[in-house]
Amino acid sequence: MAFSETILHWYAENGRDLPWRRTRDPYAIWLSEIILQQTRVAQGWSYWERFMEHFPAVEDLAAAPEDEVLRLWQGLGYYSRARNLHTAAKQIVALGGFPDTLEGIRALKGVGDYTAAAIGSIAFGLPAAVVDGNVYRVLARYFGIATPVGTTAARKEFTDLAQRLLPPDEPAAFNQGMMDFGATCCTPVNPACMTCPLQGSCQAFRTGRVELLPVKQAPAKPVERHLTYVHVRVDGHVAIHRRGPGDIWQGLWEPLLTDSVPPEARPVIKAFKHQLTHRTLYADFYLWEPSDRPSLPDGYVWIEEAELGAYAKPRLFELLLEKL
Ligand code: ADE
Ligand code: SF4
Repeated sequence: MAFSETILHWYAENGRDLPWRRTRDPYAIWLSEIILQQTRVAQGWSYWERFMEHFPAVEDLAAAPEDEVLRLWQGLGYYSRARNLHTAAKQIVALGGFPDTLEGIRALKGVGDYTAAAIGSIAFGLPAAVVDGNVYRVLARYFGIATPVGTTAARKEFTDLAQRLLPPDEPAAFNQGMMDFGATCCTPVNPACMTCPLQGSCQAFRTGRVELLPVKQAPAKPVERHLTYVHVRVDGHVAIHRRGPGDIWQGLWEPLLTDSVPPEARPVIKAFKHQLTHRTLYADFYLWEPSDRPSLPDGYVWIEEAELGAYAKPRLFELLLEKL
């Protein structure tokens, strides 16, 4: 039997009987998917029941004060999920009903590709395959795929494969079959290969690579980076600026960072090595004491050098100051 038929057959026999699988109400299904985004079924179950009791329809949830939603969510963690849930409930009410296209569902706050595919397939029978860690694992093992997961290439490869395998007339059963099969049979450790219905054609089992698949991407090797700092001192004052977003040390203060060091600046230390988790920094540190304040790029401020202690600084800057 081919892969997809085996999953469907396995699901018919072994699928978990979960309360949100006994309804086609998209609201109830959406709620279950948001709860299960970062929560196990065993823990999420009672929360789903309490939410359905408190807010039987999306209008009830949309009309509730945020406090009440957060209170019901208490203990589930990742509270942005609860706030997004509340926002999305209002979106749905404003739309006049639950969206029934993949794009419409994906546009709801808190719904990503996985959740849109899950809701779309389960509530509306849309032919969209779910792809998550469970799906990567099952497909990587069964088809013997060694592409490191976590890469863009893997994302595309596994999504395309899952989509090709999805039986267009049974997307809900196939997707939930993959979820359950990955959660209970083809598990991360000690998978149940001995009783697995896919064993006969599973590449990983046949070649003894079950433990080796899926391949995890090796952590990026530390990259090296060179920084040149100039400590500009004029009349007891120094120039510093606050680092912006999008790089290391967001919000911390540091001296003039530049590629062009004034010729009068004196080197304090060269190629000072500083190890961060994912990179190695080499810093050149200069002291420059012009007689007048030079003009500096936007964002720099002059402060009394004695006040430096009051500014949050990267550890590297503190170490460099000790070399002065
Ligand atoms: N995890 C995420 N969605 C799920 C679902 N519909 N059933 C079981 N586990 C899930
Ligand atoms: Fe997963 Fe083992 Fe079944 Fe292969 S034989 S699909 S590794 S449980």
